[in-house]
Amino acid sequence: MSNSVKDRSIIVTGSARGIGEAIARGLALEGARLTIADINEADAKGVAKSIADGGGRAIGIGVDVTKRASIKAMIAATVSEFGRLDVMFNNAGIAQVRPFLDITEDDWHRVMDVNGLGGLIGIQEAVRQMIAQGGGGKIINTASIAGRQGYEPLAHYSASKFSVVALTQAAARAFGQHKINVNAICPGVVATDMWKLIDKGFKDEGLTKRDNEAFEDFSAEILLGRPSIASDLIGISQFLASAGSDYVTGQSIVVDGGMML
Ligand code: NAI
Repeated sequence: MSNSVKDRSIIVTGSARGIGEAIARGLALEGARLTIADINEADAKGVAKSIADGGGRAIGIGVDVTKRASIKAMIAATVSEFGRLDVMFNNAGIAQVRPFLDITEDDWHRVMDVNGLGGLIGIQEAVRQMIAQGGGGKIINTASIAGRQGYEPLAHYSASKFSVVALTQAAARAFGQHKINVNAICPGVVATDMWKLIDKGFKDEGLTKRDNEAFEDFSAEILLGRPSIASDLIGISQFLASAGSDYVTGQSIVVDGGMML
């Protein structure tokens, strides 16, 4: 069975930078048609233009994954451009490093909204579109090793990523009958801007130093001897987006250089 993604219509949320951008660029290079969707619309359009300038096929649009109307509009724009939706990659997410006892209700809601609720709505609306097309399709969610093990300085983030793993399993059970595969990737420690906490809302809280320390502490445990870079996630993503993974569903696949072992 082929791992080709040629001509597949794929949405990647949170793809204006970081892991999502690397995955989207990697899939576009393999001939897929990409919707680059991000709350940062200008950068999403910039990534899409750069893919198109390089001979690939991509559109860039703004989306807020916590808003159902926004997710619906993103899917409608994709179907209007590419005719269908083959793969929905729910990748957008935010993180925050904060000692367990300092986590506030507001911190909890912000992280759970994007990572948990965003994942739920993304799955729901993608499934509706895939069933309307006659069934079949792939849903891939970006969880984390923090969704497989609770990490102290990221307790609320860990809880939100456990919820992504739970949604992945529940959706796989619910939609297998429609030949829709639902899987998650669990990256380890990936060198992206997320570790600088530059997402709005967390920017001014003076956490950068602790954040860098956390990055270094986690990185020390990696068997393969280096932190991950975003392009380490392309291969597994291509597999999960292709026919090669047609008999894989409900899995949360750890790609962490051996960190959790
Ligand atoms: P990043 O912060 O570099 O990129 C995240 C992207 O999501 C940004 O472009 C941001 O604008 C977008 N975004 C944030 N809120 C959004 C919303 N409400 N609607 C639409 N887009 C939104 O982060 P990175 O590192 O690329 O992370 C991507 C995913 O990978 C996240 O789900 C993250 O939790 C997960 N992850 C990251 C790890 C790491 O070490 N960097 C490790 C494990 C998982």
